[in-house]
Amino acid sequence: MAGKKKESSLQTSVTNQEQWEEMLNTKGLTVVDVYQQWCGPCRAVVSLLRKIKNELSDDLLHFATAEADSVDALEMYRGKCEPTFLFYGGGDLVAVLHGANAPMLQRMIVEELAKEKLVLEQGGERKVVKDGGLVDNENREEAEPPQHSQNEESIIVPASKSYTVAIIKPDAVAHGKANEIIMKVQDAGFEILAHEERTLTEAEARDFYQHKAAEACFEDLVQFMSSGPSHILVLSHIEGSASVIPAWREFIGPADIEEARQEKPESLRALYGTETLFNAVHGSEDSDQASRELAFFFPNFRTASVMEQDGEEERVERTLALIRPDVARENRDEILAQIQKSGFTVSLQREVMLSEEQVRQFYFQHVDEEYFPTLLRSMMSGPVLALALARTGAVHHWKNILGPPDIDKAKETPDCLRAQFAVENEPINQLHGSASPEEAEREIRFFFPKERTLAVIKPDVMEENSETILEEIRGRGFSVTQLKEMVLSREMAEEFYKEHREKPFFSQLVEFMCRGPCMMLVLTKENAVEEWRAMMGPTDPEKAKETSPKSLRARFAADILHNSVHGSSSGQHAEEKISFIFGDISTDAEPTSDGETDDTISDNPHHSNPYSPVTGRSDDQITN
Ligand code: RTP
Ligand code: MG
Repeated sequence: MAGKKKESSLQTSVTNQEQWEEMLNTKGLTVVDVYQQWCGPCRAVVSLLRKIKNELSDDLLHFATAEADSVDALEMYRGKCEPTFLFYGGGDLVAVLHGANAPMLQRMIVEELAKEKLVLEQGGERKVVKDGGLVDNENREEAEPPQHSQNEESIIVPASKSYTVAIIKPDAVAHGKANEIIMKVQDAGFEILAHEERTLTEAEARDFYQHKAAEACFEDLVQFMSSGPSHILVLSHIEGSASVIPAWREFIGPADIEEARQEKPESLRALYGTETLFNAVHGSEDSDQASRELAFFFPNFRTASVMEQDGEEERVERTLALIRPDVARENRDEILAQIQKSGFTVSLQREVMLSEEQVRQFYFQHVDEEYFPTLLRSMMSGPVLALALARTGAVHHWKNILGPPDIDKAKETPDCLRAQFAVENEPINQLHGSASPEEAEREIRFFFPKERTLAVIKPDVMEENSETILEEIRGRGFSVTQLKEMVLSREMAEEFYKEHREKPFFSQLVEFMCRGPCMMLVLTKENAVEEWRAMMGPTDPEKAKETSPKSLRARFAADILHNSVHGSSSGQHAEEKISFIFGDISTDAEPTSDGETDDTISDNPHHSNPYSPVTGRSDDQITN
């Protein structure tokens, strides 16, 4: 594969001690991606490294990948879930980056290269660092003091975004409400940029609330805030420009619990607070305070601007995650919280009972394995939770936090998800992740088949608004796979709405529908039927204006009869009306189609093509 070749010439592959030493002797700066055998080097950064290499085009800059298990010097990194980049200059470790943090990596490469060149050109001193993971017992004394924050990864807060610091306080955490609150926070459209669970020391609590030192409750407050673990969150608003600070304060409600219960019964404090001191959550008061609090909890935060304009590295990728029935039943919320915490967005979610045939199709590469019967039993023991997870480098990152597929190996890395959510006496790991981006898209299609629906732009808005509506349809990610303008005959209109033959409005409806041209559209998307109906809004525009003011009917419809658009009400309905309007057309006729078949688990007969084998490697071994 051409891609592979490029990769290997970009990064020297270090797989034994000898090559490691050779690497240390290389003149200049070498950036080493230390990886675990179970998930391979970090693919997400390859294009970034290539870009940096091209832009700087400096002979003193080198990249390498090194497998922790086969290089003695990397013993301390074995079994670590997090990607690690080591920066070497003249054989010395000069910097370390934990986490596949692209903007940070870019900045550090540029900085460290400049420093190394200064050393080489002017003979200055190299500042040697020690990573926690590399310090042996003898040298432990010299190790850098522990950081203020336990979170080693730098927090990137886009410069353009407003943010706030939120705390889920010890009372709510002690009552087991943290995950529930986090779910609510996300449902309400807040984006979690950083998340850390920690217990404040008394000194930290005092420091944090110093502006309240004069108040009578100060000592109690300090005791309370240091009484147990809190969750510290950095939040931003997904919807973009509006400041998140007032939105968050609105969402948590007044500090006084009684007031909150009376005036804002839906607010977090009304729901989770118990008395004024124990009011469950905190929010920054203004942007100055947010910035102080951010620095307090995450001293190594940066505001990102370097990478913002850069499309490629920031590209969001998707991966398929499966949570098998046993764990989906017991630990669903906990796993979802960890997924969010790791920076993923759940872009599609579905609980599904699989048939034996579907399990066989999905795991066709495993059917001959000894463990397959166990896998089959496990997969059919209840509903599987399927998630399409999105973030940059999603495939690699998800594999990384899952840990090794072999459950015994996974247990050597206790913080990986497969170890945390292993089921006793069950030789099968409980979580699945796609092996590659290509496989991810295929697997996502399997669980979230593309669906078709029929959309009609009705005669009342054809002249004025059909172009706008079409644009919006495309803007929402629908593929328009068929389109024709036509004037319905009376007979066709009657047939089209035959379900309503007995309704009092039937004759008016038929008359309206054939009074001028309609635009007939076949729309294709995951979950198309439901999504298009949501986009249309309720039948009656008066209701639409109340419940979904952004919907098409709210904006364009005149009344309940002249309501601008039609959409099928079920998958079956859609197929029926599509063949009525367009005749029998193939479902594969997608302009965006990459030539693949529909490898899906749809009930729809038009989408039941068998799951065709994936040609790529399968490293998703399931058992030990
Ligand atoms: P559609 O079929 O056009 O997508 O609309 P829908 O599912 O939201 O509503 P449905 O109940 O199927 O009604 C079909 C169309 O009949 C007209 N209508 N008029 N005067 C009335 O009370 C009344 N109720 C329905 C609307 O044009 C509606 O879209
Ligand atoms: Mg209808």
